Amino acid sequence: MTVPLLDLVAQYRSIKDDVLAAMATVIERQGFIMGPEVARLETEIARLSHTKHGIACASGTDALLLPLKALDLRPGDEVITTAFTFFATAGTIHNAGGTPVFVDIDPVTFNISPEAIEAAITPRTRAIVVVHLFGQLAPMERIGPLAAGRGLPLIEDGAQSIGARRKIEGTWRMSGELGTVGTLSFFPTKNLGAWGDAGLIVTQDDGLAERLRRLRLHGGSRQYFHEEVGTNSRLDTLQAAVLLAKLPHLERWNEARRRNAARYTAAFGGHPAICPPQVDPANDHIFHQYTVRVPQRDELQAHLKEKGIGHAVYYPLALHLQPCFAHLGYGRGSLPVTEASMDSVISLPIYPELTREQQDRVIDAVQSFYQ
Ligand SMILES: Cc1ncc(COP(=O)(O)O)c(C=O)c1O
Repeated sequence: MTVPLLDLVAQYRSIKDDVLAAMATVIERQGFIMGPEVARLETEIARLSHTKHGIACASGTDALLLPLKALDLRPGDEVITTAFTFFATAGTIHNAGGTPVFVDIDPVTFNISPEAIEAAITPRTRAIVVVHLFGQLAPMERIGPLAAGRGLPLIEDGAQSIGARRKIEGTWRMSGELGTVGTLSFFPTKNLGAWGDAGLIVTQDDGLAERLRRLRLHGGSRQYFHEEVGTNSRLDTLQAAVLLAKLPHLERWNEARRRNAARYTAAFGGHPAICPPQVDPANDHIFHQYTVRVPQRDELQAHLKEKGIGHAVYYPLALHLQPCFAHLGYGRGSLPVTEASMDSVISLPIYPELTREQQDRVIDAVQSFYQ
């Protein structure tokens, strides 16, 4: 028996009729651009995120790029972020005209370290981009005041954390609720995945929401009149229909991921070599990834490959060490916790449809390597 890292076909089989019917409605209407499903998705996701506005766009990358563009960055302006993330987090800072300033992460959660953010703030700092990595929130109660105290916009890259929440002073706060903006990706492999590219921005700020809506439509609030130069980053109506049909299942899927995570952690806990992911006690984790730290990671990868067990390394080369950012002057040793993480992490199958039998295969395969 082989076990894939993710089985989208299993999910497709369970929701096929609903999603195809939702798509058929759009197709019958032949209304593919900015149909009513887009506005409905924006409302639903804003509600889930406890925010006033949702602005759908073409991808999770654009969901970062548009608010970064709205900062009107000038050469030399710095944006503090983590290097232990998907490339888009920093690529968009560069493409918006800013300079990414990479800081180290917390060794327990892999999320950006508030102390490291504070130490990196300079007079050139223009914003902070936090990533809620693998599905658990960064400590917003510490990062929020750091940003607010200096008047810095705070962007929450929530591409991996839809529906994740954190208890702050007794109240559950959602991914995207506390930043100036929160961003989401609906890349097909995400906990809520479209059938193509899709993204969304949430915010509490009326003026910013209006500007972001404009930026996603060539910078115009009326057709053929342009207050500024934007781009085409509309979300396809068909993708909105897919996402609306899948949304009612999200909490059940997130719960199944949590259950699978608990089972792995029970099996691996106490093992001398395998360090399961730690959940910050304030967090409700959605386990977009189940990422363990292990010795001899590369050898374990080869072993799992041979056994037919899906796995992946997120991320094998942190962003401060990428060739395209060499000019920024970072090297090995610049971010020790990030580098130790990239050398030791491996993510295992955690998708909701994973069966017990499949999970037992994964557990056996990992444990047998260290015997
Ligand atoms: C942390 C993070 N940020 C941004 C993105 C970009 O999203 P997309 O692939 O939808 O452009 C992703 C996912 O791919 C991601 O994981």
